[in-house]
Amino acid sequence: MKYVVANWKMNLGVRESIALARGVLRAIQGHDQLPQIVVCPSATALSEVHKLLTRSHVLLGAQNAGPDKSGAFTGEIGLSQLDEVGCTFVIVGHSERRVHFHETDAVVAERLRAVVSAGLTPILCVGEPKDIRDSGKETAYVLRQLSSALADLKLSRNQKLLVAYEPIWAIGSGTPAALKDVLVMHESIRKFLQEDLHLSDERFAVLYGGSIEGKNAYQFLRESEVDGLLVGGASLKINEFTKILEAACDVVEAQASV
Ligand code: 13P
Repeated sequence: MKYVVANWKMNLGVRESIALARGVLRAIQGHDQLPQIVVCPSATALSEVHKLLTRSHVLLGAQNAGPDKSGAFTGEIGLSQLDEVGCTFVIVGHSERRVHFHETDAVVAERLRAVVSAGLTPILCVGEPKDIRDSGKETAYVLRQLSSALADLKLSRNQKLLVAYEPIWAIGSGTPAALKDVLVMHESIRKFLQEDLHLSDERFAVLYGGSIEGKNAYQFLRESEVDGLLVGGASLKINEFTKILEAACDVVEAQASV
């Protein structure tokens, strides 16, 4: 199984989101073997995009979620509200949330637990800033983010955890991290999930994100260490995103024929 997750960030209005979602549905027409595709529009567009995706192979995700309670939390969107508009995935702890909105490790852990207890599938983002990469301490940094976020997490029997490794310096830079460095990091994340969290392989997936485009998607997706991609900028341009989806379909078709 491979995942292609589109994070549209704070870029599109409702009409533009619907048009892009239509483009995604057109792009996968005629493909028998598909990756798991998830689109994450802005909160204002979730409901309308969900209507369009009903009975398709494309699932809906939110870019963030508030606490698991309802009540006096002005400006937050709760899990039951996301569930109501058809979200099955939620991005948690994206670096833009951590950097611009000061979401601490403790907040990320709390939100992750809330997503899991609401029965949705979390996409937990981790990744180091440039100075940490330059100091060679990126693995320790990412594993610390993981262990903090995953402390006390209880996945239910059928629930899956998606972890997206997104080195901050690669996001929106036009240059993804080197494949060999991504593979090393994914292996460390995988080992951590298996050995420290005792999760079996089918309970989690490790995705890469950061300047993925049509021209580089295949080289990441064909690696068994890369369970999928979390795509920002290129997911906003349907021609570019179509190339990424085609690369994913090629890999999934090749896997199915083995
Ligand atoms: P880009 O694909 O624009 O680098 O963004 C990656 C990202 O932040 C996805 O969550």
